[in-house]
Amino acid sequence: MLTYLPEDRILFTCDFLGSHLATSELYSTGRPGEREAAKRYFAEIMMPFSNLIVKNLDKLDGLQIEMVAPSHGPVVSNPSYIIDCYREWSAGPMRNKVCLPFVSMHGSTRVMVDALVAALVSRGVAVERFELTASDLGHIAMSLVDAATVVIGAPTVLGGAHPAAAHIALLANALRPRTKFVSVLCSYSWGGRAVEQISGLIGNLRAEALEPVVCKGLPRSQDLQAIERLADQIAQKHRELGLM
Ligand SMILES: Cc1cc2nc3c(=O)[nH]c(=O)nc-3n(C[C@H](O)[C@H](O)[C@H](O)COP(=O)(O)O)c2cc1C
Repeated sequence: MLTYLPEDRILFTCDFLGSHLATSELYSTGRPGEREAAKRYFAEIMMPFSNLIVKNLDKLDGLQIEMVAPSHGPVVSNPSYIIDCYREWSAGPMRNKVCLPFVSMHGSTRVMVDALVAALVSRGVAVERFELTASDLGHIAMSLVDAATVVIGAPTVLGGAHPAAAHIALLANALRPRTKFVSVLCSYSWGGRAVEQISGLIGNLRAEALEPVVCKGLPRSQDLQAIERLADQIAQKHRELGLM
């Protein structure tokens, strides 16, 4: 529910159109970082409601708005800017980009991740690589807003996925990004169900699952070839969507 004050042409948006920015400045000044703060807020709070946002944004069309006053972050005196951002983030085209969060205990999954990064970049696909032990979850959420593909790097621990990888899968599932394709890179020693577990955790994503790459310990040449094939497939899928 939003409130419009026609006398002053202010739209009070409560949680909507806000940003994760604590500042002594009452008004948005267009300084660097404001767009990121708004995108972070969208990613962390609003992304699961993208469909509702798309349906309801049109209701603002007839209003003359001079200011947007949300309950989080500064007052925005350039309303069309933030409204256009929301149109883009909730319904705009996905980007030719792979969001690649991973964790690795002994380095095997890291070798797979680095091989995939190199293979994707050489094919013209951008990558945002997140080492989960040192990443800001908000940055991963922002990457999920428009990355066409998500690949999770998950070594096997106690029969399942490493808890940090399971956590990011759970988070992605809750945030419901508009991801088109998903895959998993997994290393193991004797066996487990890490890939099945990750797949089971991301049921909310309406994404096509691409063949995961699973290898015993460090990747060998056949595993690296499988990673090259995964990169080929991702590039091909992105081309088919007109993203590159
Ligand atoms: C605490 C711990 C638990 C593990 N549990 C399993 C397991 O259940 N099944 C398995 O196949 N490998 C297990 N492993 C072995 C790792 O999955 C294997 O070494 C893998 O190559 C690690 O990948 P990384 O180097 O990317 O961490 C375990 C390793 C550790 C440290």
